[in-house]
Formats: sequence, structure tokens, C-alpha cells
Amino acid sequence: MSKEVLDTHYKRLADRYDDFLYYSPEFVRTLTSKMIEMLELHETDTLVDLGCGTAMYSIDMIKQAPLKEEIIAVDPYPEMLAQIPQDAKVRAVEADALDFSKRPGSYDKILIKEAVHHIPEREVLFKNLFERLNKGGILLLVHVPPKVEYPIFEKALERCRNWHADPDELVEQLKKANFRVERDALRFPHAIPKHRYFEMVRSCYMSALTSLDENEMEAGLKEMEEKYHDNSVLRFIDHFDYLKGIK
Ligand SMILES: C[S@@+](CC[C@H](N)C(=O)[O-])C[C@H]1O[C@@H](n2cnc3c(N)ncnc32)[C@H](O)[C@@H]1O
Repeated sequence: MSKEVLDTHYKRLADRYDDFLYYSPEFVRTLTSKMIEMLELHETDTLVDLGCGTAMYSIDMIKQAPLKEEIIAVDPYPEMLAQIPQDAKVRAVEADALDFSKRPGSYDKILIKEAVHHIPEREVLFKNLFERLNKGGILLLVHVPPKVEYPIFEKALERCRNWHADPDELVEQLKKANFRVERDALRFPHAIPKHRYFEMVRSCYMSALTSLDENEMEAGLKEMEEKYHDNSVLRFIDHFDYLKGIK
């Protein structure tokens, strides 16, 4: 995964990120309810949202489980952090996850939602985060696996298989960093108008799509046109692994 692709992707997508990836309040609430449960979130907790993007998930969590302290929302792209609502109880920190993990600080809970695949040095990251957590602290990874069930074209499905982190490997890496690991998953059924999903794909709503060249995208969209010729709505399952590391 090249830094150039990520730079292009997140700088370009930032102001449309929520537009494409929020899906619906019900979708976000379903995911955050499970995050609150697995993070065992208490009002006195200090919470870090690492690779927070627009912080849409941690902001929805504190609507249900208000915290005394601001969320510490960390992302290396100022374009993504700029999308966090001004009135949110959030302290934005512009930093790469690995750099942040090396900085002094102690936290109760850390969420990494769909960002861990962007950090190649995961063993070091998990070891550092273990040090940053207070005793009994929790690191929660919420992640889409390599094999996705999205109605995209074959080349994009293949790219996701190499792009996303393998949950079995993540579990091993967490254990190696001394975390006690609990594993769960959530499957959410989407129904999206075809024209809308095509717009998302054309706009490279996932970083794996940004890694494809123009010809691959064009051929892929043609493949989708043929495959979904008779559909006006695309129905598919979004699978998320929830990996909980307990200190
Ligand atoms: C798919 S988005 C997920 C954002 C957010 N967690 C969510 O679920 O809506 C991935 C995020 O990881 C961030 N990211 C990319 N490289 C990173 C790195 N090295 N350290 C921390 N975050 C990174 C991107 O800027 C982006 O906001």
C-alpha cells in the first residue's frame, strides 16, 4: 500500500467522506452500539479514536455514552480532521498512528476503526499502545476483512484481498503484544440505489479503488453495468470483525 495512493485518496475524498460512508443513522448506530459494549465505555474513560477520519463513530458513541473528557481524535490528514463538527467534544490531533503511539500519555480505551490496514508496522503499534493503556484498558479494532461481499467488480475484490488486514493475523499480533483477545463480528445488510453505489465506486469511496488505474476502473464499471443491468437497488452484506484486546 503506497503512501502516494493514501495521500491522493484521503485528500481527495475528505469533504465527501461522510456523504459516501455514513450510509444511514441506523448503520452507524448499529456499529457504535457494539463498540460501546465491547469497549465497556464509562463516563470517566479517556478515549482515543486512532485513524479517526471525520470521527463519525466516536462522536456517535458519546451521544449514547457521554464522557467527561474530550475524545482524542488522531489522524495524519488535516483534510479529514477538518470535517469534524466544530461543536463536537473532540480534541483533534494531526499525527500518524505509529508516531502517536510513541508519545507519552495514558488512556483507558482506544478505538481503531478501519484504519489498521494503513499501518504496516502493526506489531510495534500494538506493543506501544499496550504501554499507553492503563491496566484493564481496551484496544478495539473494527475492521473489514480481506474477502468483502460488496457488489464491485472482480479486480476490485481481488485488490481488497491484498489491501485489508487478515483478522487471524491481527489476533496473533495483538496476543504477541500481550493483549488478552476476544473476537466478535457484525453483519449489516445494505440496500443502496444502484446509481448511488456506482457514483461511490466512480469516486473511489474505498482506498483499494484509488489504487487501480483509469483503465482498470473503466473496465470494472463496465463489468458492473453488465452484471447489475436488471437491478435498481444493490443489496449486500457489510461484515465487520470486532477484535478486542484487553490489557
Ligand atoms: C477508512 S478511513 C476510516 C476513518 C474512521 N475511522 C471511520 O471509520 O470512519 C481510514 C482512516 O485512516 C487514516 N490513516 C491513514 N493512514 C494512517 C496512519 N498511518 N495513521 C493513522 N491513520 C491513518 C486515514 O486518514 C483515514 O481517516
